[in-house]
Amino acid sequence: MSAQAGLALVDRDDAGVDRAFRADVLAGLAQRQKAVPARWFYDSRGSALFEDITRLAEYYPTRAETEILSARGAEFAPAIGAGRAVVEFGSGSSAKTPLLLRAIAPAAYVPIDISGDFLRAAADDLAADFPGLPVYPVEADFSRLVELPAAVAALPKMGFFPGSTIGNLVPRSAVELLGAMRETLSGASGEGAELLIGFDLIKDPAVLLAAYDDGAGVTAAFNLNLIARINRELCGDIPADALVHEARWNDDLARIEMHLAATRDFAFAVAGHAFAMRRGETIHTENSHKYDFRSAATLLLAGGWTPRVHWSDAAHRFAVILADASELRMAP
Ligand code: AVJ
Repeated sequence: MSAQAGLALVDRDDAGVDRAFRADVLAGLAQRQKAVPARWFYDSRGSALFEDITRLAEYYPTRAETEILSARGAEFAPAIGAGRAVVEFGSGSSAKTPLLLRAIAPAAYVPIDISGDFLRAAADDLAADFPGLPVYPVEADFSRLVELPAAVAALPKMGFFPGSTIGNLVPRSAVELLGAMRETLSGASGEGAELLIGFDLIKDPAVLLAAYDDGAGVTAAFNLNLIARINRELCGDIPADALVHEARWNDDLARIEMHLAATRDFAFAVAGHAFAMRRGETIHTENSHKYDFRSAATLLLAGGWTPRVHWSDAAHRFAVILADASELRMAP
């Protein structure tokens, strides 16, 4: 990894501006329905706010998935098989990984993350807790094919994608990502890859809405932090006091949407470009798609994965699904 560590994954201009961030924000604000991709929430303040969200009484997904990983661990070992290289996509500061690793006796752990700082911290913590487990961190953007370390080339792989992060993507992009993961994981080992992936389940909209609009206002702060980031990093002057957090349940598309709604008309500029909002108009900042076992299966199949086993928590709020890389064969 050290050889790769100096390689900048973030492409910055001479003024230090993240070019991809600027391009996404300028294109998104120019749309009729203003929108900014959810991945830009996660600067250091945004990442810290998300950690706070996971501890909120209303935000059940983290606890529900953790319940599955700790309570059903004994069933993972026989389903998954020992001796796999576990490849975690977007390892971040995951507290769930030790639960999985303890359950299945893997041969190696490969955390992949675009943030080198998070990656190194997570890798060090893991290595300390699992002496004898080889850990090979890879700093990369996992939405594309990632070249895995040569040391795991001969091992059978299992991808790990917890957190229901897949839900942030519209199905078309989710299928693309699942395909990229399949390509990353199917190497020369000859043995088929597996994927262990978390999906948040469709449930009472009142429960969903509360999870994305908590009483303490932490999710509102998380949403509004995007505006602070745009103003700071892209020379913006968006009046944050004229935007309010809004969570909506879109029943047709089975997803929670987060928006920032204008409480009055105003004009603003970002990176030298002029924009305006009317009262009631919104910036769409996040989708969080919810699934049931059948819709999750369809999504996985479309991405080249065949679901094999699924688990859910006692209250059926969340699902963890084990899938095999689909054999490419003739089908009727
Ligand atoms: C990190 C994508 C799983 O969609 O539930 C939490 C992000 N947004 N509250 C989710 C989030 C608002 C979260 N994921």
